[in-house]
Amino acid sequence: MRSTSFSSALLCFEFCMTWLYCLGIIYGTQTEVLTIMLNYSEPLYRPPSEANSLIFQVTEGCSFNHCSFCSMYRSKQFKEKRLEQVLNEIIQMAKRFPDTKKVFLADGDALVISTPNLLIILDKLYQAFPNLERVSSYALPANLSKKTLKELSLLRRKGLGLIYYGIESGSANILKRITKGATPEKMIEGLNKASDAGLTISATVILGLGGQRLWKEHIDGTAELINRVQIDYLSTLQLTLDPVIRKEFFEKFQKKGESFIPQDDAAILQEQIRLIEKVMPEKALIFRSNHASNALALKGVLPRDRARLLSELNLASEDNSVLRPTWMRGL
Ligand SMILES: C[S@@+](CC[C@H](N)C(=O)[O-])C[C@H]1O[C@@H](n2cnc3c(N)ncnc32)[C@H](O)[C@@H]1O
Ligand code: SF4
Repeated sequence: MRSTSFSSALLCFEFCMTWLYCLGIIYGTQTEVLTIMLNYSEPLYRPPSEANSLIFQVTEGCSFNHCSFCSMYRSKQFKEKRLEQVLNEIIQMAKRFPDTKKVFLADGDALVISTPNLLIILDKLYQAFPNLERVSSYALPANLSKKTLKELSLLRRKGLGLIYYGIESGSANILKRITKGATPEKMIEGLNKASDAGLTISATVILGLGGQRLWKEHIDGTAELINRVQIDYLSTLQLTLDPVIRKEFFEKFQKKGESFIPQDDAAILQEQIRLIEKVMPEKALIFRSNHASNALALKGVLPRDRARLLSELNLASEDNSVLRPTWMRGL
C-alpha cells in the first residue's frame, strides 16, 4: 500500500499535470506551434482522454451556454468557424503533423454544425492525415437529438468515432433546476440513436447536483437513465461551482422549490456508492472518476468491478486522508 506522503505527492503530480494539460503547456513545442498556426480562442477545453489529440476549433464557445452549473464558455460569444477556414487549417496542420492519429473537434458542441459541413470536414481530415484513426467531439444533448439516425450513421461511416455527452443527471426535476435544456426521455432517445448509429459514447454525470435535499432522486434517476441506454464510458465529476455562476446556480435551483444545500465529500462518496450499486449495464461499461474535480479517483469496468469499487469507496468513507485535498481539485 502507498504511504500517505507518497499518495499526496502523486496526487499533487497528477493535479499539476492536469492543469498543465488544460493550459496546453504540456504539449511544449507542439502547443506553441498550434497556438501560432491555429490561433486558438481561449479558454480551450478538451476531455482528459484527448490529451494527445490534435484539436481543431471548428466552433467557438457553446451554442447553448445556459446550463446553470457550467461556466466553461461564458466568456465566449458562440460562433461557427467558416468552413473554408477550417479546411485551410486542416491542410496547414497536415504539413506540420502528418502522422496525427487522433483529432478532437472543439469547442463545446461540434454537432451543432450541419451534417453536410461535418461530412466535408471529416473527408478532409481523413484525406489530409493518412494515419488518422479517430475523430471525436463533445455533443450537447439538444444537438444530438436534432440529428437523424441516418445522419449519425453517415457521420459514423465517414469517421466520427466518439462523442462526449453530458448527462449530468437523470432526474427530470434536477435537469429543470440546472436548466440543461434536455429531459431524461429525450436523452435516452438521443443516446440510443447514437449507439444504433455505431458511435462510441462517453457520458458524464455530476455528483452533488441534487444537493443535500435531492441527492437520492438525483442518483436514482441517473442510474435509471444509464440502465436504459447503451453507452461505452461513464465518468463522474464532482460539482465545482465557479464564483461567476454560483449565484445564478442557487437561484435557478430554488425557483422550482427547495433551496440548494451543497453536499460535502462524505455525502458525495455516498452518492457514488449508491450510483455504482444501482447501475446495471447490459454490456461492459468503462467507469472512471479520475477527473480533477473528484475527491476520490476510481476506475474499473461495470458490472465486473462493482465489488472492488464499492470496497474502495467504503475504505475512503472511513479514512478521509485518501481523498484529494480540495486545493488540488479543479475543472
Ligand atoms: C463541454 S461540456 C460537455 C459536452 C456538451 N456541451 C454537453 O453539455 O453535453 C463539459 C462537461 O463538463 C462537466 N462540467 C461542466 N461544468 C461543471 C461543473 N461546474 N462541475 C462539474 N462538472 C462540470 C459537465 O459534465 C459537462 O457536460
Ligand atoms: S454543459 Fe455543455 S451545453 Fe451546457 S453550457 Fe456547458 S458546454 Fe454548453
